[in-house]
Amino acid sequence: MKALVLSGGAGTRLRPITHTSAKQLVPVANKPVLFYGLEAIADAGITEVGVIVGDTEGEIREAVGDGSRFGLDVTYLRQDAPLGLAHAVLIAREFLGDDDFVMYLGDNFIVGGITTLVDGFREDRPDAQILLTKVPNPTSFGVAELDVNGMVVALEEKPAEPKSDLALVGVYLFTAAIHEAVRSITPSWRGELEITHAIQWLIDQSHDVRSTTISGYWKDTGNVTDMLEVNRSVLETIEACCEGTVDEHTEIIGRVRIEKGAQITGSRIVGPAIIGASTVISDSYIGPSTSVSEGCRIQDCEVEYSIVLRGASLAGVRRVEASLIGRDVEVTPAPRNPSAHRLVLGDHSKVQISS
Ligand code: DAU
Repeated sequence: MKALVLSGGAGTRLRPITHTSAKQLVPVANKPVLFYGLEAIADAGITEVGVIVGDTEGEIREAVGDGSRFGLDVTYLRQDAPLGLAHAVLIAREFLGDDDFVMYLGDNFIVGGITTLVDGFREDRPDAQILLTKVPNPTSFGVAELDVNGMVVALEEKPAEPKSDLALVGVYLFTAAIHEAVRSITPSWRGELEITHAIQWLIDQSHDVRSTTISGYWKDTGNVTDMLEVNRSVLETIEACCEGTVDEHTEIIGRVRIEKGAQITGSRIVGPAIIGASTVISDSYIGPSTSVSEGCRIQDCEVEYSIVLRGASLAGVRRVEASLIGRDVEVTPAPRNPSAHRLVLGDHSKVQISS
């Protein structure tokens, strides 16, 4: 069995964070969301992985390399434009051969991995197996309609009037039957070859399409609240460790992971939290459910339930809560006079000021 991981697309949806980089590399507990998917694939005993890449190919290659550190053998497959999930299957035909495969969308996060699912598929080998989950906003997803016996009868992509609240999760299992399906469909109203339509084609041709409903699913929909929440839930599972330096005036409480070369002085850190490599924290309070990436500087601040990305610097601000701070962002207090906020905010930024 092989895996096809989709990491293409233009990378413009989780704004403002993915204005400049691949959305599959958005970190959850200091690790790109894509890496959780690759680890789940390796855990399921799959080693041959095709990674679909587009405009952000350079970044994805740099992050994933040849896959060996995940125990995977990665082949990159270039998609010239994001023409749809079924288009990705079309261009991966040679790589996939006639093997069964799991298709994994690189911006999806599945709590608990995919091993049970893959094992079940290996045993039963239906023509296709989809994953579903209940969502509050089905219009943003592919949506499944099931009959009274729980069989999939219809699928619709981003329906204006959804027939259920069961969204398609970005993990699909296929036999080689999918290849005829992706060749048989035409582009949707949004100009994409939809995998949803290809699966509907299989259903219409009386192929065996099964579904499993799961809980514990997240996809970046540009929603910071969701991102903080998935970060919090992953931090709940971390082990405490210290590969950096902590001075005697610092208090570390609960599970805190301090990565290589981080320096913490005169601070109080309450876990679960991660302090990234080479980050410097002084005279600050870092509260639960906070991930600080590598190379950040936090001085004389209070930060809680937040994500701070690579190279950001915060000095003299209290208190920062429920926030997503982007790469290389600087946050400092304004001069006392005049009493005014001074902001340089990127496009689509969101700021809530308490004054
Ligand atoms: O995440 C689940 C949803 O994913 C499903 O509910 C939908 O049925 C399915 O169509 C898909 O919807 P999105 O419109 O949200 O997919 P998105 O464009 O975000 O692409 C998903 C991943 O696949 C993302 O990592 C980018 C990559 N991709 C996307 C396209 C369209 C490619 O590699 N190539 C592509 O052509």
